[in-house]
Amino acid sequence: MDERLLAGSPEPQEREPERTLRPAALGDFVGQTKLKETLGVFLAAARRRREPLDHVLLFGPPGLGKTTLAHIIAREMGAQVRVTAGPVLEKAGDLAAILTNLGPGDILFIDEIHRIPAAVEEILYPALEDGKLDLVIGTGPAARTVELRLQPFTLVGATTRAGLLSTPLTARFGITHRLDYYDTASLKTIVLRSAEILGCPIDEDGAGEIARRSRGTPRIANRLLRRVRDFVEVAGENRISAAGARSSLDRLEVDHFGLDELDRRILGTIVDRFGGGPVGLSALAHSLGEDKGTLEDLYEPFLLQSGFLTRTPKGRVATALAYRHLGLPPRMGTGPLFDGPA
Ligand SMILES: Nc1ncnc2c1ncn2[C@@H]1O[C@H](COP(=O)(O)OP(=O)(O)OP(=O)(O)O)[C@@H](O)[C@H]1O
Ligand SMILES: [Mg+2]
Repeated sequence: MDERLLAGSPEPQEREPERTLRPAALGDFVGQTKLKETLGVFLAAARRRREPLDHVLLFGPPGLGKTTLAHIIAREMGAQVRVTAGPVLEKAGDLAAILTNLGPGDILFIDEIHRIPAAVEEILYPALEDGKLDLVIGTGPAARTVELRLQPFTLVGATTRAGLLSTPLTARFGITHRLDYYDTASLKTIVLRSAEILGCPIDEDGAGEIARRSRGTPRIANRLLRRVRDFVEVAGENRISAAGARSSLDRLEVDHFGLDELDRRILGTIVDRFGGGPVGLSALAHSLGEDKGTLEDLYEPFLLQSGFLTRTPKGRVATALAYRHLGLPPRMGTGPLFDGPA
């Protein structure tokens, strides 16, 4: 199966369907109840005061709704949104140009904000704190600094790696939210909603089956729904039943826990080649022939959170659950962390 099928980032050809399935209002955003409640309060308060919302930092694994929320925030504030991303902002001037072009109350969405170069990040500090830009004009002895006032705006930053964000930048966000993996009930609601938008009849149990195998991630739920729909349509069935969903997902090699081929290869490699661990991420990536970042951002968080792996100072360790899942007897009497997450 295509390994990228379950990867977090949308492939180009998937972007359009992803947009159609993206909820536009806070009320349509499924799950994440606490986040929705508090964000709803801050939005209402800002609207009432006719002020821009405080700067918002959203973090969490790929595909959980950070970009979706950024657009929802803009819509709820009745504001324009400008979208950019950390790696695109190569020079301080790139960001300065965007900031000076913002209108009053605009939302600036910076995706992958942990990848902003340090020199660019520095001009953000006065912009976020005092709504001004300190520009250096000229070079050498003739150089002078000009202060430029900006329109009041809201920065929405998104990152999968909050740990990589500098402390001064993190400190300048008034609202910080972590997105967690979704429970099966929320994912089922998302699958039912998406199926309706796609005009694809589906049974409750069919939606539940897809939800259970979606690694807690709405993007994966939507993607599996589209692939299951392909199988079911080609098989000449006119709706997705539980049995249809099950057999399609089996053919996609997505197992009962939502683990795919690479997940199982990760666990298998730790067990077979590294005696169950601990193994460092670089050694593991090398052994799998996979990119370290892919493992760390896309695969490891879910394996950790669902108790297949634990992280120790010496590296990753496969848990008893991982052995069981691979159909192996648990390793006996080694390391204290062996039996699963503490
Ligand atoms: N709470 C939700 N309710 C319904 N659909 C959702 C929700 N969250 C995400 N989705 C769906 O999942 C897709 C992926 O979400 P989104 O692009 O916002 O994720 P992301 O966190 O920005 O991911 P990345 O880190 O890869 O940029 C969206 O197109 C949307 O259809
Ligand atoms: Mg995104």
